[in-house]
Amino acid sequence: MKQLLLYCRSGFEKDCAAEIQDKAAQHEVFGYCKLSNHSAYVIFEAYDGEALVHFFRTFALSQLVFARQWVLLLEPLLELQPHDRVSTVLDTTASHDVQGCGQLRVEYPETNDGKTLSTLARKLTVPLRLALRNQGTLTAKERDDKPVLHLFLLSGSEAMLGLSYPKNNSPLENGIMRLKSPKDAPSRSTLKLEEAFLTFIPASERPQRLAPGLNAVDLGASPGGWTYQLVRRSMMVTAIDNGPMDPALMESGQVKHLQVDGFKFQPAKQNVYWLVCDMIEKPDRVAVLICDWFSNGWCQESIFNLKLPMKKRYEMVEQVLEQIHTRLHEAGVRYQLQAKHLYHDREEVTVHIQRKS
Ligand SMILES: C[S@@+](CC[C@H](N)C(=O)[O-])C[C@H]1O[C@@H](n2cnc3c(N)ncnc32)[C@H](O)[C@@H]1O
Repeated sequence: MKQLLLYCRSGFEKDCAAEIQDKAAQHEVFGYCKLSNHSAYVIFEAYDGEALVHFFRTFALSQLVFARQWVLLLEPLLELQPHDRVSTVLDTTASHDVQGCGQLRVEYPETNDGKTLSTLARKLTVPLRLALRNQGTLTAKERDDKPVLHLFLLSGSEAMLGLSYPKNNSPLENGIMRLKSPKDAPSRSTLKLEEAFLTFIPASERPQRLAPGLNAVDLGASPGGWTYQLVRRSMMVTAIDNGPMDPALMESGQVKHLQVDGFKFQPAKQNVYWLVCDMIEKPDRVAVLICDWFSNGWCQESIFNLKLPMKKRYEMVEQVLEQIHTRLHEAGVRYQLQAKHLYHDREEVTVHIQRKS
């Protein structure tokens, strides 16, 4: 038996579990999930350990929507002696013959209880890292091309221990992108689009794909949190919403506000690079709209939210993504798509589509 630990947003454990079980089964890895509601993590236990390790190494984490991070467990339950937690971990890494990891992350579930462990996690990191370096479990210097060793604290006396692999894990502590809301942003939702840009667009490509002067359309723009992100990157934005736009944003001179229906708006010229959409609408209706924009050649890239107030969120996301794939395929559009439940998302997931030539 081998187990995967997956981190997710609290309250989304069932969606995370349904997704990993489904995706693993599609790769002939069968198993079941152990979860408790609002724990912010899920354990997937596979019947065939070798098949699970292969799946973990070959399936891309970026293809999972609801998991922020995943870890192949060495020990599903480590009893930590409160007076000497370091020794317990060293005994375990020695018994599993773990060597040459490039980083240590001491983490915890993103819940109110879990967050009380952040101080312990910080305090434990330095002595544990030193001891693991002396043991050879960690490389002498931090390296990002080697496996990451994760100690996932459940309490002061219990933890899980496991590994994730470089380029197929989240590079972020707890799998979370922490961003500071800019003081002059019109709404906190601004962070959703910022996180989406940082998640979906590699740093090396941002100068071209988020370049000054590009034209953007923001559907459902009021009061302007998403428009703010486009304006601060010196783009020209058409903001569509019956609601008001932030006056300071309008003063930038980069925003044209049209009080029309986002489902009826059509761009006058074929010069729009970005289409972003945060309208509160049924996910399948948004999907049809976005597909129309790509089929008509009206945009090159899009970031949009699928709002998910329903119970079976994973099933809804799968159904809508399938609908998008079918429609774009029929229209002969070449593209790349990624969907993710971002840290700043709540009852919604964010989708990115890039047209390919
Ligand atoms: C979640 S808010 C958008 C927040 C915005 N992204 C921000 O960061 O400030 C959703 C917006 O969609 C707008 N909306 C909903 N249906 C629309 C439609 N059919 N056409 C245009 N706007 C619409 C609403 O008026 C509302 O302002």
